Amino acid sequence: MACIQAIASVTQYWVLVWQRLEGKVALITGGASGIGEATVRLFIKQGAKVCIADIQDELGEQILKSLGSGTHARFIHCDVSKEDDISKAVDFTVETFGTIDIMVNNAGIIGNMFAGIKEADLQELKKVFEINVDGVFLGMKHAARVMIPRGKGSIISTASLAGIVGGQGPIGYTGSKHAVVGLTKSMASELGKHGIRVNCLSPAAVPSGLFLPLFPAWLRKAAVLKISFAVIGYYANLKGVHLEANDVAEAMLFLASDEARSVSGLNLTVDGGQTVVNNPLRLILSIMRWMGILGIKHAARVMIPRGKGSIISLASVASVIGGMGPHTCQRVRELKML
Ligand SMILES: NC(=O)c1ccc[n+]([C@@H]2O[C@H](COP(=O)([O-])OP(=O)(O)OC[C@H]3O[C@@H](n4cnc5c(N)ncnc54)[C@H](O)[C@@H]3O)[C@@H](O)[C@H]2O)c1
Repeated sequence: MACIQAIASVTQYWVLVWQRLEGKVALITGGASGIGEATVRLFIKQGAKVCIADIQDELGEQILKSLGSGTHARFIHCDVSKEDDISKAVDFTVETFGTIDIMVNNAGIIGNMFAGIKEADLQELKKVFEINVDGVFLGMKHAARVMIPRGKGSIISTASLAGIVGGQGPIGYTGSKHAVVGLTKSMASELGKHGIRVNCLSPAAVPSGLFLPLFPAWLRKAAVLKISFAVIGYYANLKGVHLEANDVAEAMLFLASDEARSVSGLNLTVDGGQTVVNNPLRLILSIMRWMGILGIKHAARVMIPRGKGSIISLASVASVIGGMGPHTCQRVRELKML
């Protein structure tokens, strides 16, 4: 009896840790590289059957080969900006694996990283929107076509930090990723009644096919990249973690799995807490705090014997920024003491 119980709990543990997508079918756009590829590999490892939809046929086929012949994975050429291609990819997945439980709208491009509004080109902006926004919209639309009659499904789209704050990417990219967040909320509100969950996630910088070409070739060497990402990591607030494609794939896994069965309409940030603090302001404030405390101390030395004076501090500005609270309180206390 004890032996049977032990086998049952080991099996349960195995399913919980290693087979979280057992029996599920996923279609992943942009699955031939970077975050998409990491997601394909993790989903397969977790028991899913996966269809990769991408324009990079060779890379897609290479991934299939590396996964081995017994794996439930397929590749289909698909340009996400073309409705016919997305529709065919959805039909192909259903014909091959019987259904779609998880749709991952991940394909995306960044556009010209360095063009300001004066140099920005409308045609380029349209191209970025065609892939990053139309592609996500079409993925949602055709996945919903399969999921609505089944009364279940999970749609996940890759947004970005650039979909939350400005200044993290080019104009078109930033606009397109804000749109992905908007589409997610809209679809979550419409598809909830059909039992379909719709979420997106927003990663910070990940060394991938989208991000690496922004570095000059000499900078793409492993050692130099490590330093570059350490510098980026410094701004990530959460120390000691250098964001990689696998970290984003793990977040995808959570949103795809039954563990997230009540999560819908979420924009899950995978950014080491970068968006909850304002780093340049934090730096300025810490300098000002240092100067301010010294200022209060020495001003008080002069004012106290005179019995009058005025000291103005920036405490209220700091109070609206995450992680600034204790220092602000400290300053308020000192002002009160005076
Ligand atoms: N890398 C980052 O720093 C970062 C940060 C935040 C968000 N993202 C987002 O993550 C997603 C994946 O990007 P990545 O970093 O893995 O880059 P990547 O370039 O390695 O992967 C993007 C994939 O999308 C495919 N693709 C491009 N245009 C396509 C199209 N028209 N139809 C089908 N597939 C197409 C590419 O072939 C490629 O395989 C993108 O949506 C990107 O905006 C990336």
